[in-house]
Amino acid sequence: MNESFTVYIEELDKVVKFVDRVRELHQLDEIVSRGTAFPVAIYGPEGCGKTALLKYVARSLAKRSDTIVIYIDALEQFELEKALLSSHREVLEVVRDVSSVPIGSALARLCMSLVTRLASRISLKGKNVVLLIDDVYRAIGLENVDRYTKSLYEWIGYLHEKFEVSNVAIILTTSEGVSKRELSKHTYVDLRMLWNLSREGFEELVQQLDQLRNVDVEELWILTGGNPRALIDIARRGWNVERWMEYLYEGKIRRAMHLVGREKLRSLAEDPDSDWVAAERLEEMGLMIELRRASAVGTVPDPCTELGVGRDWAWQLPAYRYVVLRRIGE
Ligand SMILES: Nc1ncnc2c1ncn2[C@@H]1O[C@H](COP(=O)(O)OP(=O)(O)O)[C@@H](O)[C@H]1O
Ligand SMILES: [Mg+2]
Repeated sequence: MNESFTVYIEELDKVVKFVDRVRELHQLDEIVSRGTAFPVAIYGPEGCGKTALLKYVARSLAKRSDTIVIYIDALEQFELEKALLSSHREVLEVVRDVSSVPIGSALARLCMSLVTRLASRISLKGKNVVLLIDDVYRAIGLENVDRYTKSLYEWIGYLHEKFEVSNVAIILTTSEGVSKRELSKHTYVDLRMLWNLSREGFEELVQQLDQLRNVDVEELWILTGGNPRALIDIARRGWNVERWMEYLYEGKIRRAMHLVGREKLRSLAEDPDSDWVAAERLEEMGLMIELRRASAVGTVPDPCTELGVGRDWAWQLPAYRYVVLRRIGE
């Protein structure tokens, strides 16, 4: 899985080359080739690149003749072509039969029956069935996290028994802390973490976005920690990081300062592991994230105060920490 692949960045109306993720793709390739006994749920900071990675996997697997791959963007509400990518046109035919409004969240709910119906058109025997469902929990509702994930788990066994598939791999993604916490209580799901881009990958993306070559890569790295969406957000603001930080403050931090309190924020800015109760609260607000170093896809960076990364907790963007400290100091 390493041929060149491009991604369209809607906000900038620009196509860029997919960067980095060599280790992650290698690990996911292994997971898919082996099959999964449990659904794999990948969580990570907002904008770290989960969707881009999953789509890459979908496109590269679609070329394999022994593999049936179905990618569902559970949050897509309007266009079927965006909500569904598949290796087999029969999947689209089945979708048209099953659902009058075949948008993302409906597809995510129906995915198991879609594959069962697909089996009446093409034989699944000896095939690898790969199901990739993006942002699933936000789409189906947090109250359904357990039931839905457990039924996917049971369904893996069913596909083996009923259709003699060679193997099944199910990979889900979620960006949001509550579903991740819910999943971490259960044994029927394999919870994995994905981090931001590596320094080299990040620089490659900066170069593609900044044709004029006049941005300060070091500063961008220190503020974004390699998060591609953050980088794109800065590029959209004409590379004006001050304006971008204003937006972060008004979007999320001001609220946290009122609801969580300055002292707790200061303590977490100085040491992300210092207050688990407040860190969980900030995770719910999309500001921090719990780290799972032992079960990461790719790597999670070592603790680094400046980047807001602790051993167990990290700020989703170093800039959040920076803005907190600056505002508290005022
Ligand atoms: N490896 C990558 N190479 C190039 N662009 C990327 C890469 N990963 C993510 N991006 C871009 O960064 C933005 C955020 O990524 P996305 O996959 O949407 O994040 P997430 O799904 O984790 O919120 C998107 O515009 C995406 O196209
Ligand atoms: Mg996404």
